[in-house]
Amino acid sequence: MATPAILGIVALDRRARVPLQTQLYRALREAILQGRLRPSLRLPATRVLAHDLRVGRNTVVAVFEQLIAEGYLEARAGAGTVVATIPETLLHTPPPVRRSSAGEAPRLSRRGADMARIRRASPEAPTRAFQVGLPAVDVFPTETWARLLGRRSRMLTRAGLGYDYATGYPPLCEAIAGYLGAARGVACRPEQVIVVAGAQAGLDLACRMLLDPGDAAWIEEPGYLGARGALLAASAKLVPVPVDAEGLDVATGARMAPSARLVYTSPSHQLPLGVTVSLARRLALLDWATRAGAWVLEDDYDSEYRYGGRPLAAMQGIDATGRVIYVGTFSKTMFPALRVGYLVVPPSLVEPFAIAMRHTGHSAPVAVQAALADFIVEGHFASHVRRMRVLYAARQARLLRGARRSLTGLVDVTPAEAGMHVLAELPAGTDDVALAARVARAGVVVRPLSIHYIERPARSGLLLGYAGVPEREIDRGVEQLASVLRESGRRVARAGR
Ligand SMILES: Cc1ncc(COP(=O)(O)O)c(C=O)c1O
Repeated sequence: MATPAILGIVALDRRARVPLQTQLYRALREAILQGRLRPSLRLPATRVLAHDLRVGRNTVVAVFEQLIAEGYLEARAGAGTVVATIPETLLHTPPPVRRSSAGEAPRLSRRGADMARIRRASPEAPTRAFQVGLPAVDVFPTETWARLLGRRSRMLTRAGLGYDYATGYPPLCEAIAGYLGAARGVACRPEQVIVVAGAQAGLDLACRMLLDPGDAAWIEEPGYLGARGALLAASAKLVPVPVDAEGLDVATGARMAPSARLVYTSPSHQLPLGVTVSLARRLALLDWATRAGAWVLEDDYDSEYRYGGRPLAAMQGIDATGRVIYVGTFSKTMFPALRVGYLVVPPSLVEPFAIAMRHTGHSAPVAVQAALADFIVEGHFASHVRRMRVLYAARQARLLRGARRSLTGLVDVTPAEAGMHVLAELPAGTDDVALAARVARAGVVVRPLSIHYIERPARSGLLLGYAGVPEREIDRGVEQLASVLRESGRRVARAGR
């Protein structure tokens, strides 16, 4: 084949960040997949192509070898390198995937369909005011983290490079146990800590290990969508138990589903309402769980951020009968894409959970775990959390000042004693989903409260995350939100006339 034809296909950009080898590989692969380089077509000799493309011969050889290994090219004795025959189905580049395309619905399992119906809580758009659950990733000490991660990646032992540590890198388990004991009153040995790929993986593992299909499980109403997903993935029967000013209403739960096998709760800072569950309720829940033989899944996802009020230690620390499975995450204290969380399981569950971990794919990468252990042990974690607590308090104050200035009379924004978001309450019955969509069109992300309800929403409102939003964007977001709310109010008034 004449090199000029390849030169027409391969346009190497020497200023691009992508290495020339990768560019050449992608260009040839694409051309083969699109049928522009036909099967059996003979490619120029590597030396010739390298010369014509003005790249090193090794570069071309490496690309050819990779494409041969992947089946796109074939080395034929006497004929040099030729394009392989690619199955017809692969050849045409498929049309771009549209998430909402109205094509034939795939046949999902019942629980798969249930999971896919849970409303999305966060947009795919770039982060902006007022995304819920996002920490201040803009001020994370990435240099320190990169240094530790790089060092650990270079230092991994044979065990670290193999299949060991499926349930957690021991020094990290130790660091987590130490931290939880001191900061959250969690009583555990490092062996009870199971490191997972984010709290969500922990919820999934616990629900699947402890529930049979159709088993009743209490979930806070309104409650965390991730917990709903994990319970549905385990084919549980969801029992939405109301949350009041003291937290999960245990007496009502016991009436609704006395033989439930599991309770999901976020007692230190209930998502989404922000309530801290009282000690009396915690004791009542533990008492009920012990008598009923039920498990309590305690989600302590953002307990590090408390600005006022009385902090309560984790329920795990006052659980005398081993019913509590404690769930924690580094998504809020570090950053969500880290994908590291942990479970603290009672001694009776250590062995079965450890074995099951090998069959879930829920483990976190060892180099990341090792770097995280260093980050904690060297004190970076504690100082970052301390700084973030001050920053988030300031960001919440900024949001509340803005709300007093521009949202008074439109929504009731309640100050929060803990966490990373506030609730802007709307008159009951307001369609907060439609309102959030209107706000999104103005470039601001807010989360409707009603999506957290399984049954008819008792309250209506918007959740406003502030932790990850720089101050200037908070001000701008408040003004944009105010103008949409004012406009919506006028529309409601006109419709009522
Ligand atoms: C209640 C609750 N639990 C847990 C998490 C953390 O989940 P993950 O560790 O999977 O990021 C979140 C994050 O938004 C949350 O809101």
